[in-house]
Amino acid sequence: MTSGEDAAPGTGARLDVAEMQASTVLVVEDERELRELIVEALEKEGFAVAQAETGADATARLRGFAYDGLIIDLGLPDANGMDILEDALGRYPELRAIVITGIGGIEEAVRAIRRGAVDFLIKPFQVMQPVSVLKTAINERRLRRENAELRAQLQDRFRFDAIIGTSRPMMQVFSTLELVAPMHSAVLIQGETGTGKELIARSIHFNSPRRDFPFVAFNAGAIPEGLAEAELFGHVKGAFTGAIANRMGRFELADRGTLFIDEVSSMSMALQAKLLRALQEREIEKVGTSRPIKINARVIAATNVDLLKLVKDGGFREDLYYRLNVVRVALPPLRARQEDIPMLAQRFARQSAQHNNLPARAISQEAMRLLMRYDWPGNIRQLENAVEHAVAMSGTRTDILPEMLPEELHQPDRARTVPPVTIPDEGVDFSSIMSQMERDLILQCLQKTGGNKRQAAKLLSLSRTTLIDKLQRLGIGDPSAA
Ligand SMILES: Nc1ncnc2c1ncn2[C@@H]1O[C@H](COP(=O)(O)OP(=O)(O)OP(=O)(O)O)[C@@H](O)[C@H]1O
Ligand SMILES: [Mg+2]
Repeated sequence: MTSGEDAAPGTGARLDVAEMQASTVLVVEDERELRELIVEALEKEGFAVAQAETGADATARLRGFAYDGLIIDLGLPDANGMDILEDALGRYPELRAIVITGIGGIEEAVRAIRRGAVDFLIKPFQVMQPVSVLKTAINERRLRRENAELRAQLQDRFRFDAIIGTSRPMMQVFSTLELVAPMHSAVLIQGETGTGKELIARSIHFNSPRRDFPFVAFNAGAIPEGLAEAELFGHVKGAFTGAIANRMGRFELADRGTLFIDEVSSMSMALQAKLLRALQEREIEKVGTSRPIKINARVIAATNVDLLKLVKDGGFREDLYYRLNVVRVALPPLRARQEDIPMLAQRFARQSAQHNNLPARAISQEAMRLLMRYDWPGNIRQLENAVEHAVAMSGTRTDILPEMLPEELHQPDRARTVPPVTIPDEGVDFSSIMSQMERDLILQCLQKTGGNKRQAAKLLSLSRTTLIDKLQRLGIGDPSAA
């Protein structure tokens, strides 16, 4: 970036890491004593400072380096400071400039401000004056820049095209997202672990009119029951032991934005009742007070259990279920969208190489075959970790080979087909083991036949329609294709 050496020639400044990142300022003043005073004051405040005595020297320096700040005397012996200022501002519109003039130069100073200088100083002045003006101006510019960058990054990360998938179940997800993002209604995202529920929630937020307001996450499964209410709704000072000050809850923090309630099924019945009230009345009460506060947060909830089943079993309020489930996004497990695996794997390989400053890695055909035939109980997160592992193991090679993939991928068939040989004391769940075996057998046959269902059915001694029925019931692939 900025070179401290270039920025501070002749000042005798030491170069260290802090200075390399310091803001750079050029001081142009022909009166040596004044110039040195300003330089010293700036250096004390951590600026990397260069100085010029003449207009010619100033012009040369300004053409060779993009300073953050400029302090320039308008009355230089060999040049008009105003010309130099204009030239510099034309070149670097972001430059923060302060002009110095003698008494009687006010009119010129005002002209300089119109041209884009941030302030002017009339001699004599306190040397700390330009220092604090520059500090504020440069900081403000830095903040603005960082904000813009952050926003661009976020938008990039959570645009829908950050979500990979061309399989039929994912196309369905995309069309729901496009419909639902601009609205304010509640969304329930349902999917197994690692299927991308949080990614989807964030994408909805960043594609909604609420994108400039906060996205606040609340994980109902990770917060002890006793603390959850205060966390969600806030508390007032003295509401309970340890409540030493008023505190905003997540609902308030998400004002005008989105509140993401993860693992919503873990909420206690008491908390469910309070959440329902908040959604119905659009107001909350902080713990320790009964004064209601209006809220305006869009709620997106996520769950990896079948919430409707939980309702039937009495573990989740039915009325709350319907409040949350205004729109529902069902994320398919990765094994039901195997065709998305290559694109996902390639994206993760690229990302992981980039993060580690390594050259790009290609995934060999054999490794890809292994990725395709595994059934990914941990879904996309597990795939991401497996590819990251492989990139780390690839050393100096530019391609990923099967042996670089984690161990579990090398025995998927065994892992999926061998029934438990020892029966634990608490017994086993017969039907879930049988359906697991059924799934394993079918997937193996489909692999063997390269996805051809007619041939797979033959291998299984089943009719094609029976196989398709089973595929549908087990949620494997897309039975209508092929
Ligand atoms: N369609 C996708 N395209 C690209 N990356 C994805 C996709 N879906 C998920 N990911 C990535 O997979 C990882 C897991 O996703 P995420 O954390 O959103 O899953 P989750 O469903 O919330 O998991 P859990 O139930 O364990 O909380 C993240 O790194 C996410 O960026
Ligand atoms: Mg999650």
